This record gives sequence, C-alpha cells and structure tokens, in this order.
Amino acid sequence: MFIHKKQLRRCHKTEQYVYKNMKTFWNERYKQEKYAYGKVPNSFFREKLSKLQPGNILLPSEGEGRNAVYAATLNWDVSAFDISEEGKNKAEKLAKENFVSIKYLIGNFPNLNYQNEQFDVIALIFAHYPTHIKKEYFPLFDKKLKSGGLIIFEGFSKNNLKYKKDNPNIGGPKNINALYTTDELKSFFNNYDIIELEEKEIELQEGLYHNGRGSVVRFVGKKKY
Ligand SMILES: C[S@@+](CC[C@H](N)C(=O)[O-])C[C@H]1O[C@@H](n2cnc3c(N)ncnc32)[C@H](O)[C@@H]1O
Repeated sequence: MFIHKKQLRRCHKTEQYVYKNMKTFWNERYKQEKYAYGKVPNSFFREKLSKLQPGNILLPSEGEGRNAVYAATLNWDVSAFDISEEGKNKAEKLAKENFVSIKYLIGNFPNLNYQNEQFDVIALIFAHYPTHIKKEYFPLFDKKLKSGGLIIFEGFSKNNLKYKKDNPNIGGPKNINALYTTDELKSFFNNYDIIELEEKEIELQEGLYHNGRGSVVRFVGKKKY
C-alpha cells in the first residue's frame, strides 16, 4: 500500500502527542505522596520471582518501583524504565527506604540502550500500551531476553472493561487496544515454551488504584534456546 509522506508525518505527530499526554497523565498520578499501587510488590510477580535464582531482571513501565525494589531485596540486578520522572523519583525513594539500589531509566524503550540478550527475566506488570507501542515494544522484549530466559506477565484483559463498569476502582485502561487477550500473548511470544497462560478473574488490593474484582491475563514463558 502506498502511504504519502504527509500521512506518515501526521501519524508520527499523533504518536508524539499520545506519548506527551501519557507522560503528563502518569507524572500527575505519581506526584502525590501516597504510592498509587502501594509499596508492596504485585502478588503474582512475587510468587513467581521468589522461586527463581537471582540474575539480571528488567521491569518495563515500572512506575513507582514496588516490583523493582522487591526484586532488589532478593539480590537481583535490577533495571527498570518508564516515561514518568515522578515515578522514577518515588522508586528511588522506595529503594533507599529498603537499602537497595536499582537502575532506573526514563524514556521510550527503543531509545534506551539495553543490550540484546541482557536479561534473565523480563517482568511486565500492568504494562499497558496503545497498539503502535505494543508493536514496537514486544519484539524488543524478546530481543533483550536471553535464550532460556523468562517473561513474567500480568495485565488486565480486554474483559476487564465489563468489570470496570461495575467497579471503577479496579482501574486499568479504558482503551480496549491497550488491554490483552491470551491469544495476543501467544502471538507476541510465539517462540516460547508456555509455562502458564490464562485469563483469570482476580481480586486486587493494590494501593489507591487497583481495588476489587477484575480480569487479568497471566503468562509465564521461557524463551527457547
Ligand atoms: C498501571 S502503571 C504500572 C506500574 C508498575 N508496573 C506497577 O505495577 O506498579 C503503568 C505504567 O506504564 C507506564 N507507561 C505508559 N506508557 C509507557 C511507554 N510508552 N513506555 C514506558 N512506560 C510507559 C506509565 O508511566 C506507568 O508507570
């Protein structure tokens, strides 16, 4: 299909606009003193990580650092990134409170110079993106993971929109494209041995913004050698 240069520029401008708006939204949310999703790690992530030998872990879209700091207390070498400077400040404060250190970068994933096959684990916890970012980020998650490495994933499913109608306190994106299905995870990670993959109704109690009954997709996959 022929795409005019002007159309491409318009598309790029819209993407930049979305990025700026997202950044403002998340900085506003994280400006408050309280931790938006609490200081304790996500329970699915905790359960999975506690069974593994420490190595290098990457936490994309890590917000205020609850999962990164937990991993660091278990002696993982922790890298994290996000688009929110306020999130980074809170994460570094939480790391200090726990006497650990984490390497936290700000920016768009493709612009951050992580090495290919750098990580033993990449953990995506409520990392929600519009379609164009999903297309950019997911192939890169695969590239940055070592062969034999693990993806640990929990995110709201597309069915969470129904739960959110009855219970707005559950949180999660309104944009259906930013939510997940099990098929989507299968196709993102099609070269993986699936250890766990399910859509599940769960009860969350995570800080101010994830409370009550909701629907998530959970995935644990091992990159094939
Ligand atoms: C629901 S929060 C989850 C935070 C953290 N993972 C947790 O579970 O506490 C979603 C995070 O995605 C980040 N985010 C949104 N768009 C992003 C993008 N394009 N690149 C990186 N992070 C992004 C936001 O700044 C926010 O911190």
